[in-house]
Amino acid sequence: MNASARLPDAFWMPFTPNRAFRGAPRLFARAQGMYYFTPEGRQILDTLAGLWCVNAGHAHPSIVRAIQRQAAELDFVSSFNMSHPLAFEAADRLVSLAPAGLSRAFFTNSGSEAVDTALKIARAYHRARGEGSRICFIGRAKAYHGVGWGGLSVGGLARHKREFTPLLGDVDHLSLPYDRRSSAFTVGQPEHGAHFADELESLLATVHDPATVAAVIVEPVIGSGGMYPPPKRYLERLREICDRHGILLIFDEVITGFGRLGAAFAARALDITPDMICCAKGLTNGSVPMGATIVRDGIFQAIADRSASPIELYHGYTYSAHPLACAAAIAAIEVYEQEDLFGRVRKLAPTWAQSAHSLKGARHVSDVRSIGLLAGIDLQPREGAAGARGVEVGQRCLEAGMLVRNSGDTLLLSPPLIIDEEQIAHVFATIQGVLAAIP
Ligand SMILES: Cc1ncc(COP(=O)(O)O)c(C=O)c1O
Repeated sequence: MNASARLPDAFWMPFTPNRAFRGAPRLFARAQGMYYFTPEGRQILDTLAGLWCVNAGHAHPSIVRAIQRQAAELDFVSSFNMSHPLAFEAADRLVSLAPAGLSRAFFTNSGSEAVDTALKIARAYHRARGEGSRICFIGRAKAYHGVGWGGLSVGGLARHKREFTPLLGDVDHLSLPYDRRSSAFTVGQPEHGAHFADELESLLATVHDPATVAAVIVEPVIGSGGMYPPPKRYLERLREICDRHGILLIFDEVITGFGRLGAAFAARALDITPDMICCAKGLTNGSVPMGATIVRDGIFQAIADRSASPIELYHGYTYSAHPLACAAAIAAIEVYEQEDLFGRVRKLAPTWAQSAHSLKGARHVSDVRSIGLLAGIDLQPREGAAGARGVEVGQRCLEAGMLVRNSGDTLLLSPPLIIDEEQIAHVFATIQGVLAAIP
């Protein structure tokens, strides 16, 4: 198709203003390393790793080769009552990256499915142990846990839910653990804010009988909702409260997994062990859709040992452990290890933070938050036009050859982990230049 021709109508694009898009289409034809290329051949620096996916950079040759080989060898086999060797190898490689004790992996096709899988496993686990009253889930304000009914219900972004209610009924939310007055422009985890975890204890004292709560689910670093690192000691305190009341703690690491914070998972970088980890995206370096729910062995054992039926869990997807996805995941994990990309993040994080925080004082900037290779930059909203400034920055950056994601008036940055120091400097200089030029 000629790139300048009008786009056909049939494709209903996700999370996109479909009508406006066709007036000003943003198309990419090719990608390599840190860059996208438009159909006309213009090079665009990717500051979002696709969508928090391509941690090893686009089109990594080892991953490409693994997928090509696998497609010719075994294109598909179900994992219902049969499977293939790479599924077992991929699960093994994946759990070897998780904190000790999380030793079972259930494969899905996406982050949304990994989250809904975790919520279902949580209820099944409690029921297997004779605590079927534990059905309630607790999420957080500003959380994004995907678009399945479960993830949407525990998520904390009201705009995402509006057309789809009623959602799951037995759900509550903790507030955003962030106080801008004390924590604006913090590098890494804010000192202040562990007390936000005590809200869980008060919810259990005043609203929900602890014996009815199945799980608390959090992104260790809130991602799409604005990039908020957890205050120091906050996640530890959530862990303690969950333990005290027999409640499972689920980390949604769909963004923080595979190196973002300088370790395979935020759980390891921050040294807190949840009961389950949801992951996707970087699992295959974004190359083939795949997600996973990694589970503490005791959870699997409780369900397996007490199941009255030969099939322990009535759950799964046609494409769970798809051969191409397994080949891609094994190759991606090998690349992460061989190129020491998680170590690279630890080395680059101070430079990243320093460059991001150089925007303090820049025109329109009201806050900067950063951790690992993540940054969130809040812009003051325009009067009566919330989000417009963020959209304009995204547009101007693209014109300047750089893809930057905005969520309303917050810029969200999360580059491939292969970014170098020169590119980091370029990213923030470009944003600073754009901010200086726009109203
Ligand atoms: C933390 C988190 N959980 C879940 C999801 C949903 O993943 P998917 O879009 O693969 O369904 C996302 C997507 O960005 C995410 O950031």
